[in-house]
Amino acid sequence: MSSDELLNDKWLKKLDRQSQVILDRVVFNRKTFGEVFDRQTLLLLGKLISDKIINQIDFPISTGKEANIFRGTTPENEFVAIKIFRTSTMTFKHIAAYIEGDPRFSYGYKNRRGIIEEWAKKEYKNLDLLQKAKVRAPAPIKCVHNVLLMEYIGTASKPAPMLKDVHLKDPQKIFDEIMTFMARMYKEKLVHADLSAFNILMFRQKPYIIDVGQAVLIDHPSSFEFLKRDIHNITYYFKKYDIESDEQAIFEKLVNKKK
Ligand SMILES: Nc1ncnc2c1ncn2[C@@H]1O[C@H](COP(=O)(O)OP(=O)(O)O)[C@@H](O)[C@H]1O
Ligand SMILES: [Mg+2]
Repeated sequence: MSSDELLNDKWLKKLDRQSQVILDRVVFNRKTFGEVFDRQTLLLLGKLISDKIINQIDFPISTGKEANIFRGTTPENEFVAIKIFRTSTMTFKHIAAYIEGDPRFSYGYKNRRGIIEEWAKKEYKNLDLLQKAKVRAPAPIKCVHNVLLMEYIGTASKPAPMLKDVHLKDPQKIFDEIMTFMARMYKEKLVHADLSAFNILMFRQKPYIIDVGQAVLIDHPSSFEFLKRDIHNITYYFKKYDIESDEQAIFEKLVNKKK
């Protein structure tokens, strides 16, 4: 669909002029912004703009398997990260392993879009839990349908790099901190389930845990398996800094600390 066609659409006319102009820019920049937006998502972004929750979409940060992330700016000139879950290409196989067995969500009766919206909500709630658990992570701001707004981690010019892409000055300190975060999550009965040097951002020498959509409660049938994998990913990564650790001992300590 061309941007002209989109803007001539009845539903888009419902938006005020300013939102239309901004959306037009987004659509116009489709190549830069990727193929992300279906109609409903566009309308939703337009609504976020006319509701003055965001003022503009600045640039894409990442195009992942299931979601695209953009930097946005609020009317108060603050940056936000906008995670837009793609409704067309999200892989259900991947999700299934994490949502089955999570009593907080019911998926059975929902259609494709509904499931994705639940998934976005799940990430929002998990981010909220992390705040309560005092785990450093982007603070959740809002979740509307398949769009999740959260605190942006990074500078005015660029988002914070992933742990895998930085050189650490004090790797032991960062390792210890990540272990503390895992323990705090576990205390809140949550296992990240995709923890690795890809899903930790480094900003001002501090680690931030991200990408928590798939995090599961510990009564999930595979939670131990996920926790072991998380521990493995982290301990394996830190070997390059000569930090040696006993995965099994870490696992046992985490699990027994719970009570
Ligand atoms: N709050 C944020 N602030 C800045 N950059 C972010 C934020 N959240 C995610 N990113 C960037 O977007 C990338 C993908 O985000 P992530 O949540 O891991 O989604 P995916 O499911 O695509 O892996 C991250 O690796 C990071 O570079
Ligand atoms: Mg990720």
